[in-house]
Amino acid sequence: MANWKMALRTDQAVSLARRLIRQRSIGVSPEVVLCPSFPALSAVQAAVSKTHLQLGAQDVSWTDRGALTGDVMPDDLRWNGCRYVIVGHSERRRYQAESNQTIGKKVTAALSHGLSPIVCVGETAEERRRRIHHHVVARQLEVILKSVPPARHGQHLLVAYEPIWAISPGGPAEPADAFEMAQVIRQALVDQYGGRVAGLVRILYGGSVSAANVRDFIDHQAIEGVLVGSESQQAETFIALLKALE
Ligand code: PGA
Repeated sequence: MANWKMALRTDQAVSLARRLIRQRSIGVSPEVVLCPSFPALSAVQAAVSKTHLQLGAQDVSWTDRGALTGDVMPDDLRWNGCRYVIVGHSERRRYQAESNQTIGKKVTAALSHGLSPIVCVGETAEERRRRIHHHVVARQLEVILKSVPPARHGQHLLVAYEPIWAISPGGPAEPADAFEMAQVIRQALVDQYGGRVAGLVRILYGGSVSAANVRDFIDHQAIEGVLVGSESQQAETFIALLKALE
């Protein structure tokens, strides 16, 4: 999952997508999802259609339509070819003051329009230092998922463990810490939905993932994918990272 954040203009996003497409095997396995900013979605979609690359957005509105200046409706993301959407990234929590309640509504809105939400959770460095990180992350998920209808949605939901201190230029987390937190997340999902549905949810890790460390995370069964920011925003580093996964 490539989180391009606010790093690329539309023309730059399209040319990066084209560079990736030229690497023939990319996107077949593992699945590769590009998440450009809103204005770039349709142009990147045009570039990646008929390839194995998938498209995702970086945010979505919590409701279907309305007088919400600046918001983007889930239906519009689908129309623009998105299958995924990142929800509740720590940068949105921090700079847009998004609460777990709002994030829960966004997850529900995304799911009801056939989008797969990538729900981000994670603790601050201070919360880890105080050893309350298990509680903080479990609580984030509890509040977010309280309003999200369970059962049939299990296979469409993804949860990314993104410790805030590990996002570049910090991190990365120790793989063992990421695996431990993946267990905390899995247990929170079991508590919410029961074992069968919880088993369908994919858990990702994000925070300073690079070609040099990606296998340390992905080779463990607890982590089923990675959310990559800075190293996905340039062809050389992203292609190297994807090659490390082959
Ligand atoms: P990073 O970002 O890979 O640059 O640390 C990850 C993210 O914020 O999703």
